[in-house]
Amino acid sequence: MTNYSNNTSNITIRPEKASDYLEVQHLIKLAFENTTEGEPTEPLLVKRLRQSDAYIPELSLVAENEKGTLVGHILLSKVKVVSEESTALLLGVAPLSVLPDYQREGIGSLLMREAHKRASELGYKGALLIGHKEYYPRFGYKKASLYGIQFPFEAPDDCCMAIELKEGGLQGIHGMVHYSSAFYE
Ligand SMILES: CC(C)(COP(=O)(O)OP(=O)(O)OC[C@H]1O[C@@H](n2cnc3c(N)ncnc32)[C@H](O)[C@@H]1OP(=O)(O)O)[C@@H](O)C(=O)NCCC(=O)NCCS
Repeated sequence: MTNYSNNTSNITIRPEKASDYLEVQHLIKLAFENTTEGEPTEPLLVKRLRQSDAYIPELSLVAENEKGTLVGHILLSKVKVVSEESTALLLGVAPLSVLPDYQREGIGSLLMREAHKRASELGYKGALLIGHKEYYPRFGYKKASLYGIQFPFEAPDDCCMAIELKEGGLQGIHGMVHYSSAFYE
């Protein structure tokens, strides 16, 4: 468990437990409601990923406040980057959710940084995502195309991003991202 001493000092980041699943589904639904992303499928995506080979229990993290309310969640799951020469195992970040009433308090940033730290400790070399181009570069994300990594979804180039979780972690890794079938069901 990690506690932080800034204005989110009342927030604990920890892996989700089976008893959290329903609350997590609900918070994801509320976070994505009324967004332009407006993906009603995001709670279902998490449900499917939990049942897939791509799921890593240590990297499905919740942000819990002092009242025991779950106010945020992040999921990093396994993705492959495949080229003619090689296949590399990386992480896909999706989704990241913070309850509307708790947004812009730094909780999304806490979840991102803690997820990166834990992923690096588990030995993962890099992470990928499709997301807001104004938000993710602050954590170190760059355009994935700079590494020669392509996504199988239609999205603007600057929204398709990658980060090295270790120095040089993405060196020699290029090709097409292969997501778990949970993303397509
Ligand atoms: C995106 C999200 C996870 C950010 O969480 P958060 O706890 O509000 O973020 P933080 O407090 O750590 O960071 C706030 C910063 O993020 C920026 N931000 C928040 N949402 C943003 C968005 N949709 N696009 C761009 N920037 C955004 C804010 O402008 C703020 O910037 P500032 O620090 O320069 O003022 C949260 O707003 C959310 O759940 N949104 C709905 C679901 C969603 O869109 N998820 C991401 C899909 S890619």
